[in-house]
Amino acid sequence: MTSERTFRIAAIPADGVGTEVVAAGRAVLDALAGASHGELAFDWTEFPWGCGHYERTGVMMDEDGLETLKDFDAIYFGAVGWPTVPDHISLWGLRLKICQSFDQWANVRPVHFLPGVVSPLRKADDTELDWVVVRENSEGEYAGLGGRNLSARGPGNEVAVQSALFTEVGSERIIRFAFDLARGRTRRKVSSVTKSNAQQYGMVLWDEVFARVARDYPDVETESVLVDAMSAKFVLRPEDLSVVVASNLHADILSDLGSALAGSLGLATSANLNPERRFPSMFEPVHGSAPDIAGRGLANPIGAIGSAALMLEHFGLADHAARLRKAIETTAGAGVLTPDVGGSATTADVTSAIIDNLAL
Ligand SMILES: NC(=O)c1ccc[n+]([C@@H]2O[C@H](COP(=O)([O-])OP(=O)(O)OC[C@H]3O[C@@H](n4cnc5c(N)ncnc54)[C@H](O)[C@@H]3O)[C@@H](O)[C@H]2O)c1
Repeated sequence: MTSERTFRIAAIPADGVGTEVVAAGRAVLDALAGASHGELAFDWTEFPWGCGHYERTGVMMDEDGLETLKDFDAIYFGAVGWPTVPDHISLWGLRLKICQSFDQWANVRPVHFLPGVVSPLRKADDTELDWVVVRENSEGEYAGLGGRNLSARGPGNEVAVQSALFTEVGSERIIRFAFDLARGRTRRKVSSVTKSNAQQYGMVLWDEVFARVARDYPDVETESVLVDAMSAKFVLRPEDLSVVVASNLHADILSDLGSALAGSLGLATSANLNPERRFPSMFEPVHGSAPDIAGRGLANPIGAIGSAALMLEHFGLADHAARLRKAIETTAGAGVLTPDVGGSATTADVTSAIIDNLAL
């Protein structure tokens, strides 16, 4: 039977547990497609890029890699980084290169609490907690602007400048994205994260754009919170959050805090979106390559598998995404959990339980 819709996906497992969780996500998506009675199928092409490729060839991805990737419907990414290669080389040479070249300016990182997973937050037991971090993904502190100089003056004299870039266009598009997202949620609220008390140029511009855009969304509640206070709020009053929009660095840190509050970094999902769809978007777990547990079958695959659900949503397959999320919840609720969330199941155990639960 031919499939009505075949999605061409570029898989880039990259390093460490990235290879384990991407394999898990692929198995789950193929099972979902297999049970769809020909409604959909995935045509995978896997690329061997990452730190191993760097050690063999001197580059993190092929020179024509972006050209090759641009014709895919989406990219399914694992994690990049290995102790043998400096992190700034591996990150800039692959993940950031793809995000920036494909203008994946909106990074959506839901903070989702699962049944059966114990949160370090006491109030998670009896409070409905569910918020999403919207991260500006193209500029801010990760614009890569700056340089190092003066090392010729001798040991101890080198200087480094790392500038953050805040453009009105870049701030406005991510803030509007956050407001549009809030309109589709039960709680229509956007919290803007700032640090304009100390950073009087970039973050003041960010605040001004936020106030201006907010006027176009009178039906959406707003607040502007300093990043330090927001980190406390994540822990103390998370029930007051719905959509949290923040700069590249602030959202990077806050979303890790969010996933730790939900129980583990291994659970956190993310979508790097090019909302105009001029380029493929990229779906990946939030976590890194976890060298401390890599290769032992201990990696939690839920972050990667949940990121596949975000990919299905991006393809307009909301029902399939919901089915996949339900299978994840049923699996976690039944206590089939990896050690990072207090269980003793392996990556393979969790993956096959999720596949079994797709059929329910
Ligand atoms: N998006 C990315 O590709 C990405 C993100 C973060 C870090 N990194 C890279 O990953 C490498 C390791 O970085 P790190 O140690 O700071 O962060 P990390 O996310 O790899 O690991 C942090 C902790 O979380 C645990 N963990 C992570 N993923 C897990 C999973 N799926 N299941 C269970 N436990 C999990 C690890 O065992 C470790 O204790 C570095 O090279 C870093 O640059 C890459």
